[in-house]
Amino acid sequence: MLYNLTVNLADLLFSVSEAMDLSDTSLVDHQIRTAFVSSEVARAMKLDYGQTERLFVAALLHDIGAMSPEEKIGAHIFEDLCPEMHCKRGGRLFREAFWLEPSAWIIDWHHTPMAKHREADRSLSESNVLASQILFLADHLERMIQRDTFILHQTETLCAQMHDLIDHGVHADVICLFDEVSANEGFWLELVSNSLGRNLRERSLLRSIDLDYDAARSIVSVFKDMTDFRSPFTATHSTGVAACARGIGKAMAFTGKELQQIDMAGLMHDIGKLVVPDAILCKPTGLTSNEYAVIKQHPYYTFRILSRIRGFEKIAEWAGFHHERNDGSGYSMRLKQEEIDLGAKIVAVADVATAISESRPYREPGDKAAVLYALLKMSSKGTLEPRIIEALVDNYESIMVEVLDYQAADKARYIECYEVIG
Ligand SMILES: [Fe+2]
Ligand SMILES: [Fe+2]
Ligand SMILES: [Fe+2]
Ligand SMILES: [Fe+2]
Repeated sequence: MLYNLTVNLADLLFSVSEAMDLSDTSLVDHQIRTAFVSSEVARAMKLDYGQTERLFVAALLHDIGAMSPEEKIGAHIFEDLCPEMHCKRGGRLFREAFWLEPSAWIIDWHHTPMAKHREADRSLSESNVLASQILFLADHLERMIQRDTFILHQTETLCAQMHDLIDHGVHADVICLFDEVSANEGFWLELVSNSLGRNLRERSLLRSIDLDYDAARSIVSVFKDMTDFRSPFTATHSTGVAACARGIGKAMAFTGKELQQIDMAGLMHDIGKLVVPDAILCKPTGLTSNEYAVIKQHPYYTFRILSRIRGFEKIAEWAGFHHERNDGSGYSMRLKQEEIDLGAKIVAVADVATAISESRPYREPGDKAAVLYALLKMSSKGTLEPRIIEALVDNYESIMVEVLDYQAADKARYIECYEVIG
């Protein structure tokens, strides 16, 4: 297959934005509603297209640095004692991708009132200060909405609460313009509409652009970091799975677009873990059956998140079915051998091999013998595909050298951009 993978920028950003709010019912539509309010205030302020787009991208993913459901909920209910942490982490992640980097400043300061901006960084441009102030207000408003009360019965209270932000040092012009945009019922009804996401997609607030593989990969890598950087034990897991899956793919004559797809599937195979709390995901001891059931949701969510991205249909399957097993004993779809695509079977083998070669809180990293023992056992039990394991075994040294190289580079980045920030 010679042609290359392309993906629409808006598809990629919208689907991950929606995914970020799946962690808890209290968070549903938080990112998208915040993005809507931001775009309305930006329009009233007459920000130009570029500034509005930068703000919209920041708002769509503004809490990306609050990586676990616990941290997201804490930020949402005003119990995050150090909100600057998720701002700085989010800004740092944004700086990794060309298409996100221009919005990083806005993420950095989205919980900082105007007065403190100047103390903190005098080099900030006026437009970035204003944009982060708009995001501050939009995020604050969304968190104050009572989800069980009709929206038009709470507009007065919400407007008064936005006026109180002046005492917290929020830019007065932003509050004034919010008054303007919120003066009609249509604004409020749109804000809580079930079709807000679809409506915003149709309004083309993001330029319609198809990213090539390299540009898409740099954004996908940010989402991969958001998934893996929650724990030092998994910090380089998806990078390893992607490298291993690429190596097996090459050994099985994958070329061009198929190699790009298997790489993307490896990078995003665990993105569904966004819905799993740290208390379970990072638990150092054995899981109860109820906790295991919570973990087992993640491939379903991986599939659901990725299948909303046009052009990612194969990637969604290959990533979302990585826990399916040939004998039907896997999850979440209980597929059988003939129903599972070769790409998904390759990601499954790469996932097992990489996981065993990594350390966990309860065990040391497995060596080659441990990896091969586990894979051959699964092959003889009829759960993983023997010809894929054979391709890995035949090329073990070269594939694993590549896995370790990529993981080492990522580990250094994790230490630099996550542990340093906190
Ligand atoms: Fe936030
Ligand atoms: Fe937020
Ligand atoms: Fe997984
Ligand atoms: Fe995994």
